[in-house]
Amino acid sequence: MSNASRVVTSLASSRKAAQLYPAQHPSYREAMDALLNTVSDATAMGVLTLNLHEGHLYHESAVIADDAPGISAISEALEARRVESLGFKPEFTERDAIALVDVLSLRPSPDLDVEHELESRGATAVIVQFIEDEDEEEREERDRLRAQDRALYTRLVSTMRTLSEQVAQGATTDLGGAGEMVGSVLERLLTDKSAVLGLATIRGRDESDLFHSINVMIYTLTLGATMGLPEEGLASLGLSALLHDIGKAAFDHNDPGQADAMRVMHPTTGAEILSSLPLEDTAPMLVAYEHHMHVDGSGSPDRPADYVPHPFSRMVAVADRFTELTNPAPGVYGETPDRAIAQILHEAGTRHDPMYARLFAKSLGVFPIGCLVRLTDMSVGVVSDNGEDPLTPVIRVVYDTAGLELEEPFELQLAESGLRIIEVIEQDSLNTEVSDHL
Ligand SMILES: [Fe+2]
Ligand SMILES: [Fe+2]
Repeated sequence: MSNASRVVTSLASSRKAAQLYPAQHPSYREAMDALLNTVSDATAMGVLTLNLHEGHLYHESAVIADDAPGISAISEALEARRVESLGFKPEFTERDAIALVDVLSLRPSPDLDVEHELESRGATAVIVQFIEDEDEEEREERDRLRAQDRALYTRLVSTMRTLSEQVAQGATTDLGGAGEMVGSVLERLLTDKSAVLGLATIRGRDESDLFHSINVMIYTLTLGATMGLPEEGLASLGLSALLHDIGKAAFDHNDPGQADAMRVMHPTTGAEILSSLPLEDTAPMLVAYEHHMHVDGSGSPDRPADYVPHPFSRMVAVADRFTELTNPAPGVYGETPDRAIAQILHEAGTRHDPMYARLFAKSLGVFPIGCLVRLTDMSVGVVSDNGEDPLTPVIRVVYDTAGLELEEPFELQLAESGLRIIEVIEQDSLNTEVSDHL
């Protein structure tokens, strides 16, 4: 057995002894003495460093075989505390030994600061390095992309605001900006679907119509991408979704007398507006006109019995319904995303085209991104990625097991955590804004 594996083995027995016996117990003393001796032998030539790589411990470039007792327990203990390398200096004393054993027995959690814990116990001859260096970079990159995506969303809102103002004033409308924006969203969606679906959880309080159109576009494009539509088709589909309610801009939102007219007339008005524009693509006009038509012949506007709405209109209708259910007008009770999906599936064949309803449910998953969920350990988080298995998504944990808001939320791979989702919570009942956590 090498010196390095002897150190790990005696570290494991000391840790076990510390868990079983009080400090004065002979077995504890014995284990600590053995640890001091093995470290002293192993550091005779200088610092001894153990590195953890993909679950295995290494000394220099040689792997420490985990058939010796305690080796795997120590690699697991280090990994759980995000320790990537552990160094023993030759001046390793009893105080260092006790501190190290003690800290390796603390319950691992994202808040555990191993370096600080060692220091506060007076350890001076233990050197730790953390896996976090790489994590830090990843986190910075994620923050950078998140900021970029938020900026894209803000630009979309202002493009839509300008467009709506032009429509309201009856001015010539330029759709160039909107088309470009759709292209940018599409590009991000094809590289990072989860990030873009995270954006769709943003709720506009004051200008809810603008936010609604953008979110419907995101959900429609997600459906289109799931179906494998070519990019050209997706661009047309995205623009159609973004403009589906453009007719609403022609009505005065501040006039309650116009609310009914707007609700009933906006498809026809929207189609008229779009048909007056020099737009080669006729899909946006058709979608504006048809997006409230139900497949069973109900809905509006009235039409002959054999009228078949454009596939894009049927797709937008599903995404529109999901957005309306999860994020209704201010003051109206909203459904959780999973229940909205259930509702859409329930309406398949009457209101919705069954194929699109099912594909939409498939593309969003059992727990759609943005679902606020409680886990078996009572912690609460937001679904941030669908993951491999529909029942075990990736959760961004934001409240700990005691219900306290975490200072540093962390990402939990549910599949590997041994935890399960026990319920989906309404975001308003927790008074939190899901989009702030994605
Ligand atoms: Fe509409
Ligand atoms: Fe709509």
